[in-house]
Amino acid sequence: MKEERKNFGSKLGVIMAAAGSAVGLGNVWRFPTEVGRNGGAAFILVYLLCVLLIGAPLMLSEFVVGRSTHANPIKAYSKLAPGSWWRVVGVEGVVVAFLILSFYVIVSGWTLYYTVQSFAGALMESRDYKAFFSDFTGDAWMPVLYGIMLMLLVHVVIVRGVQNGIEKFSKVMMPLLLAIIMVLAACSFRLPGFGQGMAYLLKPDFSKITTDVLLSAMGQAFFSLSLAMGCLCAYASYFDSGTRLQRTVFSVSVIDTLVAVMSGFIIFPAVFSVQGLQPNEGAGLVFITLPSVFNMVFGGAPFLGYLFSGMFYMLLLLAALTSAMSLHEPVTAYLHESFGLTRHKAATLVSLSCMSLGVVCSLSCGIWSGYTIFGLTFFDFLDFLTAKIIMPVGGLLICIFVGWVLDRKLVRDEVTNGGKAHTCLFPIYMFLIRYVVPIAICVIFFNELLR
Ligand code: PHE
Repeated sequence: MKEERKNFGSKLGVIMAAAGSAVGLGNVWRFPTEVGRNGGAAFILVYLLCVLLIGAPLMLSEFVVGRSTHANPIKAYSKLAPGSWWRVVGVEGVVVAFLILSFYVIVSGWTLYYTVQSFAGALMESRDYKAFFSDFTGDAWMPVLYGIMLMLLVHVVIVRGVQNGIEKFSKVMMPLLLAIIMVLAACSFRLPGFGQGMAYLLKPDFSKITTDVLLSAMGQAFFSLSLAMGCLCAYASYFDSGTRLQRTVFSVSVIDTLVAVMSGFIIFPAVFSVQGLQPNEGAGLVFITLPSVFNMVFGGAPFLGYLFSGMFYMLLLLAALTSAMSLHEPVTAYLHESFGLTRHKAATLVSLSCMSLGVVCSLSCGIWSGYTIFGLTFFDFLDFLTAKIIMPVGGLLICIFVGWVLDRKLVRDEVTNGGKAHTCLFPIYMFLIRYVVPIAICVIFFNELLR
């Protein structure tokens, strides 16, 4: 028998679930890394513009497609443009979500390991954090084991369904995450590098804005807002007719941006508190630089060190969990709705196959690092293929579809809830989605490809 398709049960549930998807490793890990690499405050300004002018209109477009059809992404595009090839956009979303989940779950497993090691004290006791990181990620078993534990957690939530699983879980995890981030930000006031960290984050040096900074900011906005991966389209298919799409976009973008900036408030004062460390360490910032910072700052009071670092990695873990759930959902919903599998069977199939691919990703960081595709390890290749190729193309197709192909009346009815939610921003949204967003995406895409 076909199970009933349940919507989210409350407005708060909608916002917490969508914000849970957006707030992830991208905010706490990738954002500070990009800020560090691209010169601080100037990057943040450009990023804010990208969220406003590109990210938010694209998110609204995904909401329109999902809510108007109440179906998984592939079915949604087929329903809106029957018999055409636009279905490909839905296929792209589901495939990318699947591929990203397979390595996202491995990196999320790292955060689980770091949380456990922090509370257990082993992280503070180590001295060589480069070795600590590479010994763990290079090991054949441990990262896979942690990846499996993480996938199990995600699986249990997904099997329970949208209202009883994703919504309930997000409503507990997101407030907890916000509470942790506030406590950590408040603690960073007391760090000796606080003033220097704040200046780095808040005083823009406009000479630092180059085209490269612009492009990085746009890519970051895409990733951080979970765009073009079918996730938000799938979530929107569970919104009821009273959900105000524009308000939801606004709340999710504000929460996502606040968490990213607050993560900067935690990380940069910490980095500047230790002489000789620089904020532009790249991807090792969170897993290599920060543990040494915690060690040096809290060396005299190890208990505080366990607590501070444990809470920090738990923050990262919670953020990763809710995002991983949103990557799982479009794939599960597709198998469930289009192949008639029960939700339980569909979810099990997704978890098992994603984990198998995840094992390859994990091994490619260690014993299989010698096997490469176009000179990249399998892990890096998947990251490159999804983030730099498939995602921008998907984003471009979404805005062309909603801006130029979909009936304008349908779009207006969705955005205004059939005229009930009056908005004067509709013409601006249409202008952005028809001209500004596609042109901007083309610029990023070709620039990245031609580099
Ligand atoms: N937005 C998430 C983050 O910031 C990543 C993500 C991308 C999640 C796409 C779901 C879909 O980490």
